[in-house]
Amino acid sequence: MKLQNKTEEIQEKAKKHLSPVMTRVTELVIEKAHGAKFWTTDGKEYIDFVSGVAVNAVGHTNEKMVEAIKKQAEALIHLGLNYGYYETAANLAEKLAHITPGNLDTVFFSNSGAEAIDGALKLAKAATGRPAIIAFEGSFHGRTLGATAITASSSKYRRYYEPILGEVYHVPYPYPSQLKNIREREAEEYCLNQLQKLFDLRVDPSRVAAIIIEPVMGEGGYYPAPPSFLQALRKITEEHGILLIFDEVQTGFGRTGKMFAAEHANVAPDILVLAKALSGGMPLGAIVASRELHEKWPTAGHGSTFGGNPVSCAAALANIAVIEEEKLVERSAKLGAKIVGRLHNSVGHLPGIVEVRGVGMMIGIEFDSQSAALFVPKIKSKALENGLLIMNCGVSGQTIRLMLPLNIQEDVLDIGLTILEDVITETISGN
Ligand SMILES: Cc1ncc(COP(=O)(O)O)c(C=O)c1O
Repeated sequence: MKLQNKTEEIQEKAKKHLSPVMTRVTELVIEKAHGAKFWTTDGKEYIDFVSGVAVNAVGHTNEKMVEAIKKQAEALIHLGLNYGYYETAANLAEKLAHITPGNLDTVFFSNSGAEAIDGALKLAKAATGRPAIIAFEGSFHGRTLGATAITASSSKYRRYYEPILGEVYHVPYPYPSQLKNIREREAEEYCLNQLQKLFDLRVDPSRVAAIIIEPVMGEGGYYPAPPSFLQALRKITEEHGILLIFDEVQTGFGRTGKMFAAEHANVAPDILVLAKALSGGMPLGAIVASRELHEKWPTAGHGSTFGGNPVSCAAALANIAVIEEEKLVERSAKLGAKIVGRLHNSVGHLPGIVEVRGVGMMIGIEFDSQSAALFVPKIKSKALENGLLIMNCGVSGQTIRLMLPLNIQEDVLDIGLTILEDVITETISGN
């Protein structure tokens, strides 16, 4: 009775005082979390296949992260990177310089993915002196105005804010099921032709500051761009002096079975944008580019009060250390393939399911759009009733996406997958 009262009291307060603008997927009141599990104030246990939307790569309340956060909080919580330097920010910038692809060796820290995306657009505009940005249909880059302007994963994210940024153009992403009347093997060529058409008809490439892309589309449906497409973009951008930005906010830090998704295509972007699993839950984003490029960004042209907060940087360093020590990038590649194989056999053949796919542990189960509307909301709510939190994505909610901690325990994984397989099978077969 007491626990019930506490849950209701928090729900009531939250409903009264938290803005309803944010989509709330459940009404749960969460008390604590550890590893791949969380517990609610009414005493129920859940398996978490969402990880705070691909944030908790090393699991909830990872001991090494908690220890690093506590130690740093006792020494220095905030001073501001514009008043000097401190060790955690310097060490993290150096670490990112070592682990990111190509000659990306200089970092600007912000507090979130969207904020880092905004900064990356500002850097591209300032460094090239050009106004235009090209992004991709289906992409999601965040909720600030700059990030909203380049986001095209759903018109509901833009509808109240137009006109947003001038000179933003969108071209199709090579995601065949979202390209009407284009055959799968022609998707890449079609999208490259559309880019060329944009240059011919709308914007001369000499006016374009940057092309920004998610190497694996996240929110838009969990679909990877073919490596050859990313290589073609690299070539086109080099030809025209355009900067290539990879938004690896969701794909970074082992999610795709490589430290960064860029490595699958062996392409180094000019600017790499990171957040989410960078710091495993403490607010932090990063804009990583070469020293040469950062030096073209005039001092005072950008800044942040909290960006690169000492505690967030300490958390990120501990988080990356766990990823490296426990070889979680390698595990993501191997375990991801195993999970995709299992789901392929157990549910891949069911009517309405178009594809089970994965790049490392960035795993999606895609439904055709009619079946998505019919089945996916039921699958989500039944999974929750059975103690499993899952999430979907895509403009018609077509893909159930799994964002497991990279170090999820095998037994917890097995229980979670069994729940998922059972509710998918039951829902589709109408039981
Ligand atoms: C690819 C991508 N970019 C940017 C963002 C925005 O990040 P944040 O929510 O931290 O602002 C997200 C968030 O889901 C994302 O998936």
